[in-house]
Amino acid sequence: MPDVLENEIPHIYFKDVTFSYPGKKENLILKCNFSIEKPGFWMVVGKNGSGKSTLLKLINGIINPINGVIQSNANIGMVFQNPDHQILMPNCRSELLININQNISDYEINKKIEYVLAQVGLNGFEKRPVHTLSGGQKQRLSIACVLISNSNFILLDEPTALLDQTSQLRVLKTVKDLTSDHKRPLSALWITHRYEELTYADSVAELKNGFLSSWQEPSKFQYN
Ligand SMILES: Nc1ncnc2c1ncn2[C@@H]1O[C@H](COP(=O)(O)OP(=O)(O)O)[C@@H](O)[C@H]1O
Ligand SMILES: [Mg+2]
Repeated sequence: MPDVLENEIPHIYFKDVTFSYPGKKENLILKCNFSIEKPGFWMVVGKNGSGKSTLLKLINGIINPINGVIQSNANIGMVFQNPDHQILMPNCRSELLININQNISDYEINKKIEYVLAQVGLNGFEKRPVHTLSGGQKQRLSIACVLISNSNFILLDEPTALLDQTSQLRVLKTVKDLTSDHKRPLSALWITHRYEELTYADSVAELKNGFLSSWQEPSKFQYN
């Protein structure tokens, strides 16, 4: 069965987006403008409390802006900071199964499971109980779940915050590979407060005082 979204380039577009939580006087996001119009590894950096998670909630429609326009044709998948808040099933195969949203044969299901596990470096992990996985392996399983659901745009909210350095690098490299796959690159928006992660990105912006800076190459990125 062909993927419906195969030939569509996913985009996200923000025009003068303003947001504040109910009862708060100050706008957390103020006249925010940006767009992501091509696949790649996009990173937003910002301090704790700067509104990074709120920005992702606006993108995937969990909350609505009080002013401005958000447009997207992307089929969005999420990866959260704590994989234990995301993974529901007891083993890798069953977790992947609940994320398949197509009516396909058992043969195709098995092929897909094998394929996405290989994409995240978890070859042969089908039967592994989730509780035996490391934090980084769980994050890569969460990424595989996004892939198997046919999402074409992945939002990652500080996915390495709870990981040791080795696992952090594996997760970073997994997303780097997926976003630079020349045949079918994924779009990824990675949120972080760790400046050392920015070197992996294609483009970087900083969220500060409600504003998102323009996109910059990581080597030219200057934060204030
Ligand atoms: N549901 C909510 N209701 C009210 N205030 C919130 C809510 N969620 C977050 N906030 C506040 O908004 C600010 C930004 O939060 P958040 O987007 O989670 O920042 P970050 O992800 O950058 O740490 C914080 O001051 C936080 O307390
Ligand atoms: Mg956050």
